[in-house]
Amino acid sequence: MLEKGTLMLLFCLNLIFFPWLEGTAVLKGENQVHLKDWFIDEPFFPFAHGSLAACTSYCITMDESMSMFYNGAAQRCICINTGYIERPSALGQSVAGWNYYLILDERCPRESGYVYSKIFHSCYKFHKKNSSLSYDDYSTICENEGGELMKIDSEKKQQHIADFLDQFEYTKLIMFQGHHNTSELHWYYNDGSIMSYFNWHPSQPDVSLLYDEEAIGMKSYDGYKWHDIWFNFKRAFLCERRILEY
Ligand SMILES: *[C@@H]1O[C@H](CO)[C@@H](O)[C@H](O)[C@H]1NC(C)=O
Ligand SMILES: *[C@@H]1O[C@H](CO)[C@@H](O)[C@H](O)[C@H]1NC(C)=O
Repeated sequence: MLEKGTLMLLFCLNLIFFPWLEGTAVLKGENQVHLKDWFIDEPFFPFAHGSLAACTSYCITMDESMSMFYNGAAQRCICINTGYIERPSALGQSVAGWNYYLILDERCPRESGYVYSKIFHSCYKFHKKNSSLSYDDYSTICENEGGELMKIDSEKKQQHIADFLDQFEYTKLIMFQGHHNTSELHWYYNDGSIMSYFNWHPSQPDVSLLYDEEAIGMKSYDGYKWHDIWFNFKRAFLCERRILEY
């Protein structure tokens, strides 16, 4: 929730900064110029009216809002509960006059492609498959970006990530945290803790005859249900940087 008190507004080209008095969070609306003149009427949030600064501050107060469409001529905006990096072909429409803003947290890594989710207190990014990389490289890449391979530990987060992934219209496997030795019962996160949330496909996990180490992946055409897969698969992956409360 938005704290009462001074809300300093600093205008800087297309950036609007909202330094919060609590903690060290600094949220800002960042214009995504490559998504200009595109609009999704998401019924989840109603339309609001006002200046760009007023609209941004309004969307920032909403827990599930990650981005905003804003129309300057009409002084109208709508808050959106997904962060779009790409424009999905099946969603929204071309409408002149709309600008799209991601609501970002200053503590997210500065590399492009990260979006900020207030409900999960994290920033995350989708990495497409790169044939010269495999599972062992993914954690290192995420760590170099200030995060780790994504942890999906609840149904709510699974749903949220599925919505986020839909925009990429990517059909191959996408990997995240979770590994297993076939001689053991449990699945583990990278820090050695035991996993308790799973979203297995009905056919999974299945028996691995070839290797004794397994990881987890999901894909859009299975409704993002999970599959156990081998470590040597080269796939897309998700990085996440959790935002700690200081
Ligand atoms: C794939 O990964 C290699 C090794 O890290 C890197 O040099 C290359 O730029 C990557 N390719 C793409 C398309 O990102
Ligand atoms: C899996 O566990 C077995 C039994 O403890 C062990 O011999 C094997 O080395 C483990 N495999 C890997 C890849 O860690």
